[in-house]
Amino acid sequence: MPERHTVLVTGATGNTGSRVTARLAALGHPVRAASRTARTAPPGGARAVPFDWYDESTHAPALNGATRAYLVPPPGDPDPAAVMFPFLERARAAGVTRVALLGSSAIRPGGPGVGQVHQLLCEQRLFEEWTVLRPSWFMQNFTDDHAHAESIRSEGTLTTATGTGRVPFVDADDIAAVAAHTLTATSAPEHDLIITGPEALTYDEVAATITRVTGRTVTHHPVTPPQLAARLTRLGIPAEFARVLAALDDAISEGAENRVTDTVRRLTGRAPRAFADYCRAAWSPRSTATAPSRPTATAPSR
Ligand SMILES: NC(=O)c1ccc[n+]([C@@H]2O[C@H](COP(=O)([O-])OP(=O)(O)OC[C@H]3O[C@@H](n4cnc5c(N)ncnc54)[C@H](OP(=O)(O)O)[C@@H]3O)[C@@H](O)[C@H]2O)c1
Repeated sequence: MPERHTVLVTGATGNTGSRVTARLAALGHPVRAASRTARTAPPGGARAVPFDWYDESTHAPALNGATRAYLVPPPGDPDPAAVMFPFLERARAAGVTRVALLGSSAIRPGGPGVGQVHQLLCEQRLFEEWTVLRPSWFMQNFTDDHAHAESIRSEGTLTTATGTGRVPFVDADDIAAVAAHTLTATSAPEHDLIITGPEALTYDEVAATITRVTGRTVTHHPVTPPQLAARLTRLGIPAEFARVLAALDDAISEGAENRVTDTVRRLTGRAPRAFADYCRAAWSPRSTATAPSRPTATAPSR
Protein backbone atom coordinates (compact mmCIF):
# COMPACT_ATOMS: atom_id res chain seq x y z
CA MET A 1 0.00 0.00 0.00
CA PRO A 2 1.62 3.33 -1.04
CA GLU A 3 2.15 5.87 1.74
CA ARG A 4 -0.82 8.17 2.33
CA HIS A 5 -0.23 11.92 2.65
CA THR A 6 -2.63 14.48 4.03
CA VAL A 7 -2.67 17.22 1.39
CA LEU A 8 -3.95 20.75 1.79
CA VAL A 9 -5.33 21.85 -1.60
CA THR A 10 -5.86 25.60 -1.88
CA GLY A 11 -8.08 26.98 -4.63
CA ALA A 12 -9.98 23.72 -4.24
CA THR A 13 -13.12 25.01 -5.96
CA GLY A 14 -11.15 26.30 -8.97
CA ASN A 15 -10.05 24.90 -12.31
CA THR A 16 -6.99 23.03 -11.18
CA GLY A 17 -7.63 22.71 -7.43
CA SER A 18 -10.91 20.86 -7.90
CA ARG A 19 -9.21 18.40 -10.21
CA VAL A 20 -6.19 17.97 -7.91
CA THR A 21 -8.61 17.31 -5.05
CA ALA A 22 -10.48 14.66 -7.05
CA ARG A 23 -7.30 12.93 -8.17
CA LEU A 24 -5.67 12.82 -4.73
CA ALA A 25 -8.88 11.62 -3.09
CA ALA A 26 -9.26 8.90 -5.73
CA LEU A 27 -5.71 7.75 -4.94
CA GLY A 28 -6.71 7.40 -1.28
CA HIS A 29 -4.93 10.44 0.15
CA PRO A 30 -6.79 12.49 2.78
CA VAL A 31 -7.44 15.91 1.22
CA ARG A 32 -8.19 19.18 2.97
CA ALA A 33 -10.05 21.05 0.20
CA ALA A 34 -9.54 24.72 1.04
CA SER A 35 -11.37 27.77 -0.28
CA ARG A 36 -13.41 30.69 1.01
CA THR A 37 -16.69 29.26 -0.19
CA ALA A 38 -17.05 25.50 0.08
CA ARG A 39 -20.50 25.50 -1.47
CA THR A 40 -20.70 21.83 -2.35
CA ALA A 41 -19.06 18.77 -0.87
CA PRO A 42 -15.65 18.24 -2.49
CA PRO A 43 -15.24 15.08 -4.55
CA GLY A 44 -14.17 11.68 -3.29
CA GLY A 45 -14.67 12.23 0.40
CA ALA A 46 -12.20 15.12 0.59
CA ARG A 47 -12.86 17.43 3.50
CA ALA A 48 -13.89 21.04 2.79
CA VAL A 49 -12.03 23.52 4.98
CA PRO A 50 -12.56 27.29 5.07
CA PHE A 51 -9.48 29.19 3.94
CA ASP A 52 -8.82 32.79 2.97
CA TRP A 53 -5.31 33.95 2.07
CA TYR A 54 -6.15 37.33 3.65
CA ASP A 55 -7.58 35.92 6.90
CA GLU A 56 -4.71 34.50 8.95
CA SER A 57 -7.12 32.97 11.45
CA THR A 58 -8.09 30.40 8.77
CA HIS A 59 -4.51 29.28 8.10
CA ALA A 60 -3.69 27.06 11.08
CA PRO A 61 -7.04 25.20 11.04
CA ALA A 62 -6.70 24.59 7.30
CA LEU A 63 -3.16 23.25 7.74
CA ASN A 64 -4.12 20.90 10.58
CA GLY A 65 -2.48 17.52 9.91
CA ALA A 66 -1.30 18.39 6.39
CA THR A 67 2.15 17.26 5.28
CA ARG A 68 1.86 18.41 1.67
CA ALA A 69 0.22 21.38 0.01
CA TYR A 70 -0.99 22.47 -3.43
CA LEU A 71 -0.82 26.24 -3.65
CA VAL A 72 -2.96 28.40 -5.95
CA PRO A 73 -1.96 32.04 -5.38
CA PRO A 74 -4.63 34.56 -4.35
CA PRO A 75 -6.28 35.49 -7.66
CA GLY A 76 -5.59 38.94 -9.07
CA ASP A 77 -3.15 39.94 -6.31
CA PRO A 78 -0.18 41.75 -7.90
CA ASP A 79 2.00 40.84 -4.89
CA PRO A 80 0.96 37.36 -3.75
CA ALA A 81 4.26 36.84 -1.93
CA ALA A 82 3.12 39.28 0.77
CA VAL A 83 0.47 36.86 2.02
CA MET A 84 2.00 33.63 0.79
CA PHE A 85 5.39 33.92 2.47
CA PRO A 86 4.02 34.14 6.04
CA PHE A 87 1.67 31.30 5.17
CA LEU A 88 4.56 29.17 3.89
CA GLU A 89 6.42 29.72 7.15
CA ARG A 90 3.31 28.62 9.07
CA ALA A 91 2.96 25.60 6.81
CA ARG A 92 6.51 24.50 7.48
CA ALA A 93 6.06 24.95 11.23
CA ALA A 94 2.84 22.94 11.02
CA GLY A 95 4.62 19.96 9.45
CA VAL A 96 4.25 20.48 5.70
CA THR A 97 7.32 19.05 3.98
CA ARG A 98 6.47 19.28 0.28
CA VAL A 99 4.64 21.96 -1.71
CA ALA A 100 3.56 22.37 -5.32
CA LEU A 101 2.98 25.99 -6.34
CA LEU A 102 0.83 26.82 -9.36
CA GLY A 103 2.77 29.34 -11.42
CA SER A 104 2.69 30.13 -15.11
CA SER A 105 4.85 29.35 -18.13
CA ALA A 106 4.90 33.09 -18.82
CA ILE A 107 6.46 34.00 -15.47
CA ARG A 108 10.00 33.05 -14.60
CA PRO A 109 11.45 32.79 -11.09
CA GLY A 110 12.00 36.33 -9.86
CA GLY A 111 9.39 37.70 -12.28
CA PRO A 112 6.34 39.65 -11.19
CA GLY A 113 3.54 38.22 -9.06
CA VAL A 114 3.93 34.48 -8.57
CA GLY A 115 7.51 34.79 -9.86
CA GLN A 116 8.38 36.36 -6.49
CA VAL A 117 6.92 33.36 -4.64
CA HIS A 118 8.90 31.06 -6.93
CA GLN A 119 12.03 32.99 -6.02
CA LEU A 120 11.28 32.67 -2.31
CA LEU A 121 11.01 28.89 -2.64
CA CYS A 122 14.42 28.90 -4.37
CA GLU A 123 16.16 31.19 -1.90
CA GLN A 124 14.54 30.70 1.49
CA ARG A 125 14.84 26.90 1.58
CA LEU A 126 11.59 26.64 3.51
CA PHE A 127 10.96 23.17 2.15
CA GLU A 128 13.40 20.51 1.01
CA GLU A 129 10.84 19.28 -1.47
CA TRP A 130 9.05 21.76 -3.68
CA THR A 131 8.04 22.38 -7.23
CA VAL A 132 6.59 25.20 -9.29
CA LEU A 133 4.12 23.99 -11.89
CA ARG A 134 4.29 26.40 -14.82
CA PRO A 135 1.49 25.55 -17.24
CA SER A 136 0.87 27.27 -20.51
CA TRP A 137 -2.60 28.69 -21.22
CA PHE A 138 -5.54 26.54 -20.19
CA MET A 139 -7.92 24.92 -22.71
CA GLN A 140 -10.66 25.75 -20.18
CA ASN A 141 -10.29 29.44 -21.13
CA PHE A 142 -12.43 28.65 -24.19
CA THR A 143 -15.26 26.92 -22.34
CA ASP A 144 -15.51 28.12 -18.76
CA ASP A 145 -15.91 31.51 -17.06
CA HIS A 146 -13.27 33.37 -19.04
CA ALA A 147 -13.40 36.35 -21.38
CA HIS A 148 -12.56 34.13 -24.39
CA ALA A 149 -15.35 31.69 -23.60
CA GLU A 150 -17.80 34.52 -23.15
CA SER A 151 -16.91 36.17 -26.49
CA ILE A 152 -17.15 32.81 -28.26
CA ARG A 153 -20.65 32.40 -26.81
CA SER A 154 -21.85 35.95 -27.38
CA GLU A 155 -20.01 37.11 -30.55
CA GLY A 156 -18.43 34.04 -32.16
CA THR A 157 -15.05 35.76 -31.95
CA LEU A 158 -11.72 35.43 -30.22
CA THR A 159 -9.98 38.77 -29.82
CA THR A 160 -6.24 38.63 -29.13
CA ALA A 161 -3.01 40.48 -29.74
CA THR A 162 -1.18 37.21 -30.36
CA GLY A 163 -1.07 37.58 -34.16
CA THR A 164 0.18 34.30 -35.58
CA GLY A 165 2.00 33.37 -32.37
CA ARG A 166 1.57 29.82 -31.09
CA VAL A 167 0.43 28.58 -27.67
CA PRO A 168 0.63 24.96 -26.44
CA PHE A 169 -2.79 25.03 -24.72
CA VAL A 170 -3.08 22.52 -21.89
CA ASP A 171 -6.05 20.81 -20.25
CA ALA A 172 -6.41 21.64 -16.54
CA ASP A 173 -6.91 17.93 -16.01
CA ASP A 174 -3.37 17.27 -17.27
CA ILE A 175 -2.04 19.98 -14.96
CA ALA A 176 -3.86 18.30 -12.07
CA ALA A 177 -2.40 14.92 -13.01
CA VAL A 178 1.11 16.40 -12.90
CA ALA A 179 0.32 18.15 -9.62
CA ALA A 180 -0.98 14.96 -8.02
CA HIS A 181 2.15 13.14 -9.16
CA THR A 182 4.52 15.76 -7.75
CA LEU A 183 2.65 15.78 -4.42
CA THR A 184 2.62 12.02 -3.90
CA ALA A 185 5.59 10.48 -5.76
CA THR A 186 8.21 8.83 -3.60
CA SER A 187 10.99 10.98 -5.00
CA ALA A 188 11.12 14.74 -4.56
CA PRO A 189 9.80 16.70 -7.54
CA GLU A 190 11.83 18.78 -9.97
CA HIS A 191 11.73 22.45 -9.05
CA ASP A 192 10.50 23.95 -12.31
CA LEU A 193 8.01 22.13 -14.53
CA ILE A 194 6.72 23.75 -17.72
CA ILE A 195 3.46 21.98 -18.55
CA THR A 196 2.04 22.10 -22.09
CA GLY A 197 -0.42 20.33 -24.28
CA PRO A 198 0.80 18.23 -27.22
CA GLU A 199 0.82 20.95 -29.90
CA ALA A 200 1.32 24.70 -30.14
CA LEU A 201 -1.60 26.36 -31.94
CA THR A 202 -2.30 29.82 -33.30
CA TYR A 203 -5.58 31.45 -32.32
CA ASP A 204 -6.63 31.13 -35.97
CA GLU A 205 -6.21 27.36 -35.58
CA VAL A 206 -8.07 27.42 -32.26
CA ALA A 207 -10.99 29.26 -33.89
CA ALA A 208 -11.00 26.82 -36.81
CA THR A 209 -11.04 23.82 -34.45
CA ILE A 210 -13.93 25.22 -32.41
CA THR A 211 -15.80 25.97 -35.65
CA ARG A 212 -15.26 22.42 -36.90
CA VAL A 213 -16.31 20.79 -33.63
CA THR A 214 -19.31 22.97 -32.80
CA GLY A 215 -20.54 23.69 -36.33
CA ARG A 216 -20.77 27.35 -35.35
CA THR A 217 -18.41 29.85 -36.95
CA VAL A 218 -15.84 31.27 -34.59
CA THR A 219 -13.24 33.67 -35.96
CA HIS A 220 -10.02 35.09 -34.57
CA HIS A 221 -10.04 38.87 -34.49
CA PRO A 222 -6.41 40.09 -34.22
CA VAL A 223 -5.83 43.48 -32.60
CA THR A 224 -2.80 45.43 -31.38
CA PRO A 225 -1.74 45.22 -27.72
CA PRO A 226 -3.08 48.74 -26.95
CA GLN A 227 -6.39 47.85 -28.61
CA LEU A 228 -6.59 44.67 -26.55
CA ALA A 229 -5.80 46.52 -23.32
CA ALA A 230 -8.58 49.03 -24.13
CA ARG A 231 -11.05 46.22 -24.86
CA LEU A 232 -10.23 44.39 -21.61
CA THR A 233 -10.59 47.64 -19.68
CA ARG A 234 -14.02 48.13 -21.24
CA LEU A 235 -14.88 44.61 -20.03
CA GLY A 236 -14.17 45.75 -16.49
CA ILE A 237 -10.58 44.64 -15.99
CA PRO A 238 -8.42 47.16 -14.12
CA ALA A 239 -6.32 49.12 -16.63
CA GLU A 240 -2.96 48.05 -15.21
CA PHE A 241 -3.86 44.35 -15.31
CA ALA A 242 -5.32 44.79 -18.81
CA ARG A 243 -1.94 46.12 -19.97
CA VAL A 244 -0.18 43.12 -18.39
CA LEU A 245 -2.51 40.73 -20.23
CA ALA A 246 -1.99 42.59 -23.50
CA ALA A 247 1.78 42.39 -23.00
CA LEU A 248 1.50 38.62 -22.51
CA ASP A 249 -0.33 38.39 -25.85
CA ASP A 250 2.38 40.52 -27.43
CA ALA A 251 5.02 38.13 -26.10
CA ILE A 252 3.06 35.22 -27.60
CA SER A 253 3.08 37.01 -30.95
CA GLU A 254 6.87 37.04 -30.73
CA GLY A 255 7.08 33.31 -30.00
CA ALA A 256 7.38 33.28 -26.19
CA GLU A 257 5.00 30.31 -25.83
CA ASN A 258 5.94 28.42 -28.95
CA ARG A 259 7.25 25.19 -27.48
CA VAL A 260 5.99 21.83 -26.31
CA THR A 261 7.36 19.97 -23.30
CA ASP A 262 7.19 16.27 -22.39
CA THR A 263 6.25 16.97 -18.75
CA VAL A 264 2.77 15.42 -18.82
CA ARG A 265 3.89 12.23 -20.57
CA ARG A 266 7.08 11.90 -18.55
CA LEU A 267 5.39 12.27 -15.15
CA THR A 268 1.98 10.69 -15.77
CA GLY A 269 2.90 8.05 -18.36
CA ARG A 270 0.26 9.25 -20.83
CA ALA A 271 0.05 11.88 -23.54
CA PRO A 272 -1.53 15.25 -22.77
CA ARG A 273 -4.95 15.83 -24.28
CA ALA A 274 -5.10 17.40 -27.73
CA PHE A 275 -7.15 20.57 -28.16
CA ALA A 276 -9.54 19.00 -30.69
CA ASP A 277 -10.26 16.14 -28.26
CA TYR A 278 -10.84 18.65 -25.47
CA CYS A 279 -13.31 20.56 -27.68
CA ARG A 280 -15.16 17.40 -28.69
CA ALA A 281 -15.65 16.48 -25.02
CA ALA A 282 -16.47 20.04 -23.93
CA TRP A 283 -19.11 20.55 -26.62
CA SER A 284 -20.57 17.08 -26.50
CA PRO A 285 -24.35 17.05 -25.96
CA ARG A 286 -23.88 16.05 -22.32
CA SER A 287 -21.40 18.83 -21.52
CA THR A 288 -22.21 22.01 -19.60
CA ALA A 289 -20.34 24.01 -22.27
CA THR A 290 -23.44 23.73 -24.46
CA ALA A 291 -25.61 25.30 -21.79
CA PRO A 292 -27.18 28.67 -22.65
CA SER A 293 -24.64 31.44 -22.27
CA ARG A 294 -24.71 33.54 -19.15
CA PRO A 295 -23.29 37.00 -18.96
CA THR A 296 -20.02 37.26 -17.12
CA ALA A 297 -17.39 39.91 -16.67
CA THR A 298 -14.86 37.44 -15.37
CA ALA A 299 -11.35 38.60 -16.05
CA PRO A 300 -8.84 36.29 -17.69
CA SER A 301 -6.83 34.87 -14.81
CA ARG A 302 -3.58 35.59 -16.60
N1 LIG B 1 -6.05 30.45 -17.22
C1 LIG B 1 -4.86 30.25 -17.73
O1 LIG B 1 -4.68 30.13 -18.96
C2 LIG B 1 -3.65 30.11 -16.82
C3 LIG B 1 -2.44 29.66 -17.36
C4 LIG B 1 -1.33 29.53 -16.51
C5 LIG B 1 -1.44 29.83 -15.17
N2 LIG B 1 -2.63 30.25 -14.68
C6 LIG B 1 -2.71 30.57 -13.25
O2 LIG B 1 -3.69 29.77 -12.65
C7 LIG B 1 -4.09 30.40 -11.44
C8 LIG B 1 -5.57 30.17 -11.23
O3 LIG B 1 -5.73 28.78 -10.98
P1 LIG B 1 -7.08 28.03 -11.25
O4 LIG B 1 -7.53 28.35 -12.65
O5 LIG B 1 -6.90 26.63 -10.85
O6 LIG B 1 -8.03 28.74 -10.21
P2 LIG B 1 -9.42 29.47 -10.46
O7 LIG B 1 -10.33 28.57 -11.25
O8 LIG B 1 -9.13 30.85 -10.96
O9 LIG B 1 -9.99 29.54 -8.99
C9 LIG B 1 -9.39 30.32 -7.97
C10 LIG B 1 -9.51 29.57 -6.66
O10 LIG B 1 -8.99 30.40 -5.63
C11 LIG B 1 -9.97 30.50 -4.59
N3 LIG B 1 -9.84 31.81 -3.97
C12 LIG B 1 -10.20 33.00 -4.49
N4 LIG B 1 -9.88 33.98 -3.64
C13 LIG B 1 -9.34 33.40 -2.54
C14 LIG B 1 -8.84 33.89 -1.31
N5 LIG B 1 -8.82 35.19 -1.00
N6 LIG B 1 -8.35 33.01 -0.41
C15 LIG B 1 -8.36 31.69 -0.69
N7 LIG B 1 -8.82 31.15 -1.84
C16 LIG B 1 -9.31 32.01 -2.77
C17 LIG B 1 -11.30 30.28 -5.28
O11 LIG B 1 -12.27 29.75 -4.39
P3 LIG B 1 -13.25 30.65 -3.51
O12 LIG B 1 -13.73 31.77 -4.39
O13 LIG B 1 -14.29 29.67 -3.11
O14 LIG B 1 -12.41 31.10 -2.37
C18 LIG B 1 -10.94 29.22 -6.30
O15 LIG B 1 -10.96 27.94 -5.72
C19 LIG B 1 -3.70 31.87 -11.56
O16 LIG B 1 -2.66 32.13 -10.64
C20 LIG B 1 -3.18 31.98 -12.99
O17 LIG B 1 -2.11 32.87 -13.10
C21 LIG B 1 -3.75 30.40 -15.45
